[in-house]
Amino acid sequence: MNHIAALSPDSHLTSTSLPPLKIGSEEHKRAFCGVLLDLFDPYKPSILAWPRLSEDTKNRLMSLPFWDVAVVTEGHASSRMQAMADTVTDPLIKQAIALNAFEEGRHKLVLRNMLNFYGIPLKPEAPYSAPRDAEWKFICTGYGECFDSFFAFGLYKMAKDSGYFPPELVEVFEPVVHEEARHITFFVNWVAYTAASKSLIPRLWFRAKCLASLAAAALDRLSLAGMGSEAAKSGKGGDDNFVVTGGETLTVGLTPRKLIEVALAEDTRRMSRFDPRLLRPQIMPFIGRMVLKFLPKD
Ligand SMILES: [Fe+2]
Ligand SMILES: [Fe+2]
Repeated sequence: MNHIAALSPDSHLTSTSLPPLKIGSEEHKRAFCGVLLDLFDPYKPSILAWPRLSEDTKNRLMSLPFWDVAVVTEGHASSRMQAMADTVTDPLIKQAIALNAFEEGRHKLVLRNMLNFYGIPLKPEAPYSAPRDAEWKFICTGYGECFDSFFAFGLYKMAKDSGYFPPELVEVFEPVVHEEARHITFFVNWVAYTAASKSLIPRLWFRAKCLASLAAAALDRLSLAGMGSEAAKSGKGGDDNFVVTGGETLTVGLTPRKLIEVALAEDTRRMSRFDPRLLRPQIMPFIGRMVLKFLPKD
């Protein structure tokens, strides 16, 4: 299955010759909505080929501590995105966010199908209720995805290179990881576009809302990291932190420096597939580069 070809049309790779985009313009909107709408990959989770695994590999897969959390995270993301799409009036943005919601639901289905195929038990999911403030939850989900995707890029690459899991299994998740790169690129451009289209006071209010949800997403990840470290120290392992508790079992040779270095390189590589005139998620690469300055060499 060659998803890369389907996801990288030439029109997006050759747009360096085009004049720069004015943030908040119709052209900007068409370009960032295009990252979702034009680069959509119509794969069907039901026909993905799950490779046969040895008992050893199956046990390794089963021992990963984050499957329940991953499924619920995708379920929440999907229902929050759809709630946002339902409130948006601009037809193009509405269509793009609804597609984002569809893709999150499809990620959940890919995970469920895989767990089902390999006989890995999953806790029953509680119903996903619609958020009261759709925009707030959409922004929180967007910043959360910016944090998570950065680490997912690194962990995915390390899992791929380590040979810890068969390449046919790792490859099935390439479209999922790539879709997250599209989602966060769409999101940061949507934030800039939405802010630019407001007058001064509503714009300041919107920016304050973004700042608050960014802080909430950061605190959420920090508290999970703390819980994961405690759990790791106590030898129990956490069940809701992919990076801290899952990373070491997903790949070998994982150190904070290695993970950040690989994540930075992968972030650059994945983002290079999109229209270069669009904004890129900056916060995590910036934090990653800062942290590298203080981390000891491996
Ligand atoms: Fe997702
Ligand atoms: Fe996503």
